[in-house]
Amino acid sequence: MTAFSYRGGALSAESVSLEALAAEVGTPFYVYSTAQLQANYKNFADAFAGEKPLICYAVKANANQAVIQTLAACGAGADITSIGEMERALAAGVHPEKIVFSGVGKDRNEITAALIAGLHQLNVESIPELRLISQVAVELGRTAPVALRVNPDVAAGTWDKTATGHKESKFGIEPAQLDEAVKLATTLPDLAFKGFAMHIGSNVSDHGPFRIAFERLARLVQDWRTCGVTIERLDLGGGLNIPYRGEKVASLADYAKLVRDILGPLNCKLAFEPGRLLVGTAGMLVSRVTHAKKAVTKNFLIIDAGMNDLVRPAMYGARHGIQPVRESSASRLTWDVVGPVCETADLFGEAYELPDLAAGDLVAIAFAGAYGSAMASAYNGRALIPEIMVSGGDYAVVRRRISVAEQMGWEALPPWAASAQAG
Ligand code: LLP
Repeated sequence: MTAFSYRGGALSAESVSLEALAAEVGTPFYVYSTAQLQANYKNFADAFAGEKPLICYAVKANANQAVIQTLAACGAGADITSIGEMERALAAGVHPEKIVFSGVGKDRNEITAALIAGLHQLNVESIPELRLISQVAVELGRTAPVALRVNPDVAAGTWDKTATGHKESKFGIEPAQLDEAVKLATTLPDLAFKGFAMHIGSNVSDHGPFRIAFERLARLVQDWRTCGVTIERLDLGGGLNIPYRGEKVASLADYAKLVRDILGPLNCKLAFEPGRLLVGTAGMLVSRVTHAKKAVTKNFLIIDAGMNDLVRPAMYGARHGIQPVRESSASRLTWDVVGPVCETADLFGEAYELPDLAAGDLVAIAFAGAYGSAMASAYNGRALIPEIMVSGGDYAVVRRRISVAEQMGWEALPPWAASAQAG
């Protein structure tokens, strides 16, 4: 399905016109489609209908309560990376027994909160972390269900900044330390060792790295079983890409077949942590043209969204599709689409072919549902922009605009400020 299409000449989210929405809530704003979220979840679940895995939505991709709740209502659990995300997932109705806790830096407070909440599993990324979890579990008189996140030493073939499966990365336990980690996981007090977890990177388009990683994982399971260690669960992480630039997408059916062929015979209970795949295509960032600056060397379309609202192009060199909200068959110009932030990096991308747009026109930045609002900041004295969810012909503001005045209310002057001013 495509939730975003032109209806009566205006780009719409389901049947809500983005022009009407912009008039209603002001720009820029994120808009999410409920139907697309549901369809994305269903596609993933259908691909693994036989296995009935635990599908833990990676909340970091988009932590809006409405998004988590929509996916939870479809049956999703959550993959969290902090206790803040746990609070969000629980508040959105995810059952604690469907939550896995990932991340290299879980601290004592977070481990305590996770054990008290009774999460499904903590994915452990180092030996010191394993020891700390055991200590906290003993202090609380609870058993901590743990999986060891294996670093399979695989090049994921994605952006450098989103690759996590190579051995120089901070993520996971490197193969040379796994023996010690498994021994500790099975002997330290109050740990229940459940199995292995893995996540090789994000926006991975090729099945090759997954194949290598799964084969290494399968071998590990067999080896440890031979040594008498019980391995019940495998958490395969997330990482599948979406076609930002119309590029090749790792087919879900092929990915599922790969999982089935390589890991199926092990009869482990499977879990996945998809983020981008569930929410990326379900969101757009809608922005208004502030100035159409036709310079001698280039045409700059200066829009009212900036790198603080969507940092992916500046941070990873990612390129999102950009389209006019008003359908147009007029001839196209070549534009660099930029934001208002005082950074050269505030560039959505060069050489977009778009109509001859003018101040006041609207554009929509596609596939902005994942790692968009979740990574936003208020840099350059900017408001945090609203998030709107649509369903059919209805819409709801699921996060309102947070003005600069409101942000200033979070701050306080130090007590000596007044006398310093007077002096
Ligand atoms: N599980 C773990 C342990 C992860 O670290 C991640 C993503 C996921 C699951 C979800 O991965 P996904 O299915 O979304 O690829 N900000 C970057 C992406 C960073 C991903 C971090 N970890 C971006 O905008 O592309």
